[in-house]
Amino acid sequence: MSMIQSDLDIVSRDLFIKGMRQVANSVAVVTTTGDAKHNGATVSAFSSVSADPPQLLVCLRSASQIAAAVTANGTFCLNVLSHHHQHLAERFSGVHDSVVENRFDGIDFHAEDTWVVFAGATSFCCIVADRIIAGTHTIFIGHVQRLRTANDEPLTYFQGNYRNLAKV
Ligand SMILES: Cc1cc2nc3c(=O)[nH]c(=O)nc-3n(C[C@H](O)[C@H](O)[C@H](O)COP(=O)(O)O)c2cc1C
Repeated sequence: MSMIQSDLDIVSRDLFIKGMRQVANSVAVVTTTGDAKHNGATVSAFSSVSADPPQLLVCLRSASQIAAAVTANGTFCLNVLSHHHQHLAERFSGVHDSVVENRFDGIDFHAEDTWVVFAGATSFCCIVADRIIAGTHTIFIGHVQRLRTANDEPLTYFQGNYRNLAKV
């Protein structure tokens, strides 16, 4: 019996990305702070890990500024965005980097101890419990120390566009 399945393709980088475009994700901004400098980046590669103890993971490109900053600071906050936060997702993915000196300019946030929390987001304040290098990315496992929950519908990302959830 042949093990070859003719409808499955060998996986190139482009094909992998094409497949992942079919996955709908929530959108968050990872923030971290240290030496009086804030860093932040938009992410969709995050997930719950464990409720006991409360842990989550986020995958950051190892060569990014945000990965270096989270590593150096040892803490981060995962701000899960609400449907009215698309401007934050755009800002912290670097869309406005050429015209805005600092991604945090004009953003409604506050610092809580070592964590930078966005107004209206569901914010998981973490210390880094573990780091795992995987390909081009580093998986940061965060032990959640504090949590503020919002009650809004989430901002989502699907096929390269921001979306709002539709009720079925
Ligand atoms: C919707 C969306 C999701 C993203 N998800 C991730 C992610 O999960 N991990 C990541 O490293 N970058 C992700 N990015 C890219 C970063 O937001 C972008 O590279 C950012 O500029 C990194 O900032 P830095 O290199 O200045 O730290 C995403 C971008 C968008 C628009």
